[in-house]
Amino acid sequence: MHTRRCVAEEGAIREAADVIRRGGLVAFPTETVYGLGANALDPHAVARIYAAKQRALNDPLIVHVADAGQAETLLDRARLSAAQWGQAQILMRRFWPGPLTLVLWRSSIVPPNVSAGLDTIAVRCPNHRVALALIRASSVPIAAPSANRFGHVSPTTAQHVLDDLDGRIDLVLDDGSTPIGVESTVLDLTTDSPRILRPGGLLREQLEQALGIPLAIGPDRAGEDEPATSPGLLERHYAPRARLIICADEEDLLARYSALCKAGKRTAALLLRRHTQAQATIHPHFVLGDLPEEVARSLYAGLRALDAEAVDAILTVRFDGGGLNEAIADRLRRASAQPTEFARESEH
Ligand code: TXA
Ligand code: MG
Repeated sequence: MHTRRCVAEEGAIREAADVIRRGGLVAFPTETVYGLGANALDPHAVARIYAAKQRALNDPLIVHVADAGQAETLLDRARLSAAQWGQAQILMRRFWPGPLTLVLWRSSIVPPNVSAGLDTIAVRCPNHRVALALIRASSVPIAAPSANRFGHVSPTTAQHVLDDLDGRIDLVLDDGSTPIGVESTVLDLTTDSPRILRPGGLLREQLEQALGIPLAIGPDRAGEDEPATSPGLLERHYAPRARLIICADEEDLLARYSALCKAGKRTAALLLRRHTQAQATIHPHFVLGDLPEEVARSLYAGLRALDAEAVDAILTVRFDGGGLNEAIADRLRRASAQPTEFARESEH
């Protein structure tokens, strides 16, 4: 299959919508990362997403909608308590379109493979001109995971999409870099109290303020003999090929750098702008910026760039505190989990 790359203008979006309606695969930008979209109501099209990404079949997809009304058509409202539906409505009104994915009960009109067989469904309304225009023009909800090979970091440019999926999808709509750079926050509203399954672009503090309750982070069934609530949250999910090492601070990073060099390891670093000494010492390096917004926006590009240098190790510093640092720390922790399945898979 030849993958077409089109600048995301009106005509190209109309063409892309035709591809979606015919059961094809279109990668498109959202405010978080690029998604790999297919008609969420067509089980064959959905199956093609798993095949193109080589995604594990037990890892459910997010369905993208143009508004809350379209989301409602995908839900089994009767299974939600009045309180849960009230919370869903508050959050949709306050944060949609935006980087918030809600896990609710799935209606039988949604093919089971969208949700990897679970009876829940993850829905989100993206805050991006191109994504919204594509959903409206195709007049169907669009199932879309991040447009990367399974286990690889998410794409924040059309080139990243092609690096992973060229020849495996029909078309990519190119609209430059995605503004937020880390994925949406996933909130499960089907449990007794809402839980954040994945920290992301919408801050925990904003959700807590809107709901008036503190929120737990992480799947609720950990340790039980059941499938994970959100299998995509497995450790090592965002792993680069090189070993990623998280250091306490710049001083620790420089110390580890010399130890690794002595051991004959080619070592790179993902740095903040203020890490001037490390920038002068370590090559190759990638500067992420200083503010959490800058770091989130450039994190995946930095990991991909340094990984392409075929280094043995990538050093970076720890991100603490709330706000966007929760999502950044989460992605770095997963990327540093060793050994990586991706490292082994990518050798095949
Ligand atoms: O920002 C984003 O969310 C991007 C853009 C493209 O919208 N999408 C994205 O999709 O990150 P993906 O497939 O890479 O991650 C989806 C996450 C996974 O952790 C998956 O396990 C979880 O959402 N998820 C999907 N459906 C679920 C469900 N029914 N229950 C629990 N978790 C679910
Ligand atoms: Mg993903």
